[in-house]
Amino acid sequence: MLSIVINGQKHELDEDPNMPLLWVLRDILNLKGTKFGCGKGLCGACTVHLNGAAVRSCSMPLAAVAGQDIRTIESLSDDGSHPVQQAWQELNVAQCGYCQCGQMMNAAALLKQNSKPSDADIDAAMEGNICRCGTYPRIKAAIKFAADLATEVKS
Ligand code: FES
Ligand code: FES
Repeated sequence: MLSIVINGQKHELDEDPNMPLLWVLRDILNLKGTKFGCGKGLCGACTVHLNGAAVRSCSMPLAAVAGQDIRTIESLSDDGSHPVQQAWQELNVAQCGYCQCGQMMNAAALLKQNSKPSDADIDAAMEGNICRCGTYPRIKAAIKFAADLATEVKS
């Protein structure tokens, strides 16, 4: 039996300790916001936060995350009020939308560490998140907008 904490809620799971966290989230806990893309840590669609840092849940075995703080896209906010959610909506970032939950989670982790990222900071942090629709310019603009919104909230 393994205990994991997802979005502040503890779950006791009797599953294979090698099961990827992504499988646990989607198939066992029904948290479908986190997406399956490559399954090999190469696309970023499955990005979640582990103790505040962006990680690829497809490449994290259940045993490796037991007892740690895991946050999924569902945790940003229920009402769309997180600055990243607001910015994504305001700038109509999504095209097909498939990659966007991973993009937003990576962006949220970046902004937690760096409240005013430069273009180079954004490029470095986001380079592993692939968007087949090519929404990269809107993603970059939305991260800057989210940074401004977060600053307004603080001031
Ligand atoms: S599905 Fe995890 S990085 Fe692609
Ligand atoms: S919006 Fe379609 S893959 Fe990114």
